[in-house]
Amino acid sequence: MRRKLIAGNWKMHGLADRLAEAEKLSEAYPDPACEVVLCPPATLISRMWEVLLGGGIRVGAQDCHPAEAGAHTGDISAAMLADAGASHVIVGHSERRADHHETDALIAAKLHAAHGAGLVAILCLGETGAERDAGAARDVVTRQLEAALPAGARAKDTVIAYEPVWAIGSGRTPTPAQIAEVHGTLRAALQRLVPDQADGMRLLYGGSVKPANAAEILAITDVDGALVGGASLDAVDFSAIIAAAEALS
Ligand code: 13P
Repeated sequence: MRRKLIAGNWKMHGLADRLAEAEKLSEAYPDPACEVVLCPPATLISRMWEVLLGGGIRVGAQDCHPAEAGAHTGDISAAMLADAGASHVIVGHSERRADHHETDALIAAKLHAAHGAGLVAILCLGETGAERDAGAARDVVTRQLEAALPAGARAKDTVIAYEPVWAIGSGRTPTPAQIAEVHGTLRAALQRLVPDQADGMRLLYGGSVKPANAAEILAITDVDGALVGGASLDAVDFSAIIAAAEALS
């Protein structure tokens, strides 16, 4: 049985005053029945870690550099994130693929670095609207998975997040059948790529997950949790999504 994971991606939102939302969540869920991770901007990781200390919610990061250290002005290594208190790191988010021209090879290197620092990597995959319209969604995510997943990936250090680009921040979501189809494709690909880990590896869905649709999405076969953007910024909304996952745990 895969434990559900609800991860919040704050993206480039949040000054110190928003830590109050993390504090409210920590008080509401001292020992959640599902796994919960909040990924704030890097500037808030260590302060959020202090806010969440002793509770059941973990802190994660949104990106890491592939190198351990070096002359890379402005970048942050996986070891630095772990040092700041992060236990997870998102890699390959479509906004980074688009804004920073991240390639599959770079994302694979970041995943390797995350594992090297002892972090759980949340690998994001997803097709664009044009790719979906062309009937290529399953091929795109399979190719992205094959390109980034190391042969030694384990269920305990790797999570896959299916995030259709056209569903992010748009209020649109795929139908449950479309989500089930992609997750089924990804599960089959995992069985081929990492046979002994495939059954335990979590597959999250992300893209306009809200309190109103969380229960329906989380109940889909092979959906083991959610990667939540906008609705993770507000403790009330995020709590409702955590509660939907707890009800299924
Ligand atoms: P939204 O939930 O705001 O659509 O964002 C999804 C996302 O990109 C999470 O990584």
